[in-house]
Amino acid sequence: MLYALVHTIHIYSVFIYGGFLFVDILFLSKMQQTLSEEEHTKAREAIMMHVRKVVPYALMVAVVSGLYLFSQVFGEIGKEGMSSFQIALSIKAFLGLWLGFRGINQKLFGINPWLFKSHLFPFSLVVIIILLSQLIYL
Ligand code: HEM
Repeated sequence: MLYALVHTIHIYSVFIYGGFLFVDILFLSKMQQTLSEEEHTKAREAIMMHVRKVVPYALMVAVVSGLYLFSQVFGEIGKEGMSSFQIALSIKAFLGLWLGFRGINQKLFGINPWLFKSHLFPFSLVVIIILLSQLIYL
């Protein structure tokens, strides 16, 4: 029962976090094509001021709920080493934790992500994580 609840919370939180990244990369980034520099800055800020109040916290919830799920489903490592489920889940968890570490540093400590400034990098990671989340069941 608790597992199902946390699983649902995990899905909603990654939906909010990943959903924003999809909208940003697919649609918001296109505003530049029709708006002037000044209009674009203003329009983007009008959206980002609300995004900042929700999206970083959704990422934190995704990490915390993900850690709980991980602790429940990873299981023992067998004599032959990790199963394909455990390998895929470990890669998925690593990428999720990386995003979380990056996001929490940015939100709580004002440390901007190293190297990548655009949302293309977290977007790509989310695409891979969602794919891995399904592959673990194969
Ligand atoms: C932003 C980062 C993350 C995204 C986008 C994400 C996405 C997802 C998705 C789409 C699912 C599949 C749900 C389903 O099909 O029912 C899932 C499940 C899962 N996630 Fe995440 N996740 C993230 C972070 C994490 C982290 C950091 C961990 C662990 C440290 C984690 C652990 C898990 C586990 C263990 C499951 C499997 C649940 C099950 O088999 O019942 N996730 N995640």
